[in-house]
Amino acid sequence: MAAPPTDPVSLLVYHPEGDALAYSQQIRIPAGREVTVHACASEADATAVIDEVQVAYAWKLPAVLYGKAKRLQWLQAMGAGVDWVLVPELPSRVVVTRVPGVFGPWMSEYVLAWCSWVTQKTEVYRTAQRERRWRGDVLPGRLRGKTLTLIGVGDIGREIARVARAVGMHVIGVSRSGQRVPGVEHVYRPGYLMRALAAADFVVLVLPLTKKTRGIIDAEALAAMRPGAWLLNIGRGELVDETALVDALQTRRLAGAILDVFPTEPLPADHPLWGLDNVVITPHVAGPSTVEELAPLFNDNLARWLRGRPLQHVVDRARGY
Ligand code: OXD
Repeated sequence: MAAPPTDPVSLLVYHPEGDALAYSQQIRIPAGREVTVHACASEADATAVIDEVQVAYAWKLPAVLYGKAKRLQWLQAMGAGVDWVLVPELPSRVVVTRVPGVFGPWMSEYVLAWCSWVTQKTEVYRTAQRERRWRGDVLPGRLRGKTLTLIGVGDIGREIARVARAVGMHVIGVSRSGQRVPGVEHVYRPGYLMRALAAADFVVLVLPLTKKTRGIIDAEALAAMRPGAWLLNIGRGELVDETALVDALQTRRLAGAILDVFPTEPLPADHPLWGLDNVVITPHVAGPSTVEELAPLFNDNLARWLRGRPLQHVVDRARGY
């Protein structure tokens, strides 16, 4: 057990898009401890305090600040992915923790909703309604019996599998270890990626961005998918070769894509994906980091850290998640 830190402690809450103040207001400081909380929403504000902070509770802290964070010991990431934390600038002494269990329920509803949007032919009926047309000639399809391939079966993937199975879908997966996962009929190792892709009606990318996964869905992988299949990316934009994806969608090699993440966010206004009618674009909202859901995990870890106890949900920096 490490020696507990001595007071006063300095804690940075950083969120450039949302409300850093709201996150900081949910922090519970154990009685008798002296902790100064700095809520910062911009790089400039964070720069002013970074040299004194020992703890950061953050979303997308700019890498340039790590070099100045001389006292930083622990960083609690607010999001599901930690690729933005695990950059070469992050000193090796800094322990990184994540927040498992929070995003799966959100993302499984997102996946089920958009898969249903496809099978229920929602777009057809909405278009017909705008035209005041009765499309009794078009029947919706079923999710029951369809195959969903999860590329990534961590805590989020498992929750998606549970929900998909509940509506009668077949679920198969791909993971680094290929180990069995409850609710997933078969988990393939990465060497069998093409086989897993070829079996799917829906492919869901829910894996971390690491050196090994960057570009995993390339032209060959897209070609392995069934012509009627849909790709859902809720992981990271960089998992997919974007040029190959645009080509597969434009030529209708793929039926379509539901995309929540992109290599460049916000997606630039002149990007070709905006113009494709077989693409749904959502603005990185599949698994929001809500103040209320993150706070209990952070507060538990903060209490541990202040007592010099081991932290929960520590990221394996070599593995990248
Ligand atoms: C992420 C998130 O890590 O949205 O992308 O949580």
